[in-house]
Amino acid sequence: MDYLQIKKAGSLHGEIKISGAKNASLPLIAMAILAKNSVSIKNLPHVADINTLLKLLSNLGAKCNRGEEITTIDTSSLSETKATYDIVRTMRASILVLGPILARFGHCEVSLPGGCAIGQRPVDLHLKALEQMGAVINIEAGYIHAIAPNGLKGCNIIFDKITVTGTANIVMAAALAEGVTTITNAAREPEVVQLCEILNANGVKIDGIGTAILTIHGTDGKLIHIDEFSVIPDRIEAGTYLCAAAITRSELTLTDVNAGHLGAVLSKLQEMGSKFTITDNTITIHPSEVIKAVKIVTQEYPAFPTDMQAQFLALATQANGTSIIEERLFENRFMHVSELQRMGANISLNGHVATINGGTKLSGTDVMATDLRASSALVLAGLVAEGITNVHRIYHLDRGYDSLEKKLQNVGADIKRLKE
Ligand code: EPZ
Repeated sequence: MDYLQIKKAGSLHGEIKISGAKNASLPLIAMAILAKNSVSIKNLPHVADINTLLKLLSNLGAKCNRGEEITTIDTSSLSETKATYDIVRTMRASILVLGPILARFGHCEVSLPGGCAIGQRPVDLHLKALEQMGAVINIEAGYIHAIAPNGLKGCNIIFDKITVTGTANIVMAAALAEGVTTITNAAREPEVVQLCEILNANGVKIDGIGTAILTIHGTDGKLIHIDEFSVIPDRIEAGTYLCAAAITRSELTLTDVNAGHLGAVLSKLQEMGSKFTITDNTITIHPSEVIKAVKIVTQEYPAFPTDMQAQFLALATQANGTSIIEERLFENRFMHVSELQRMGANISLNGHVATINGGTKLSGTDVMATDLRASSALVLAGLVAEGITNVHRIYHLDRGYDSLEKKLQNVGADIKRLKE
């Protein structure tokens, strides 16, 4: 297994190119199941989760050709409709194939994704919505068995909670359903918006894109032709590198980035003292010498994203004063805290609220990544810790960050990927 060795370096300089968004790519790859043509996707990030979903589609009989810049997915020969445990357990977002396969073939078996380190991660809202659309769903031996003998019918769905992949799953199911589906309390994340925009541009009329109420006009089972498109930039990768600049007091420029997707993150970094120069596709951060303490509550988009919570918690250990971070989406998303405490951070946890007494000197040591965003928080801490920080189990990191150590090396960080 690999690990990252990080030594405290001075400030960073230069540019970091942001890759395509992992969380936009996953539903867009599943969307290819709705297509009658071979779908060409540009700017897919080179991360493990994308490879996992492409492998899943290949196992179902699709022809996937992963290129450096362009990936093509031809699902015309897709024949299997069972997503097996061995793949789904490695990436719970595999649940995204359920809606499209059920809509296209009328039956589908997907292994229950199970929980992960950050929480239970139930899919009850996905299943309840599909049942409302006419699916008959049984759960047996750890698998979701779904059939839609009379096809899926459009209806009015109200999500009890805002769910990102739940919204994506139902949008894709509704795309091929008979009639009109409305989704109330839909997720408004940019990744869901891009899925809707692509479908809308290719024959599936969707009203309310970007709002909490989506209206999808189904094609009544007709597959769609999808023109080539490019995945939006990864706002969480971008936010992570902005935190790297802020914690090392470095001026960095991010390119191929959409500042419009980072409102809450930029606002919190401004509160903590950073300033920004922003153009259409770049962000330059001008960090302050003194980092101010902050209060953060994670919520659904456009509020502060839970996927940036760990990174800001690492940054807050270097702030002047006491910061408060409340995690409202997931029940167990503070596993990075114990590792940061081992590096000397002064953090106390009370349920879903972390209190971070900043201004502490961090010391490098061996630390263990527990989940994707926790891994990046440990890398950020390693950039400013005295001595050497070794971040182990970075297969978590490789799920969602494209060439992280190369991108940081290119701006002057002392970081190496080594073998255990
Ligand atoms: C997506 O996960 C992202 N993953 C997550 O990013 C992100 O943290 C999360 O949205 C929240 O923004 C992808 O897009 C692939 P949810 P998702 O359904 O869709 C509860 C990362 O780091 N819920 O919006 O699985 C759930 O337990 C990953 O890139 C139900 O109760 O999250 C949670 O409390 C981590 N029943 C809340 O809703 C359901 O059926 C939000 O979950 C579905 C969700």
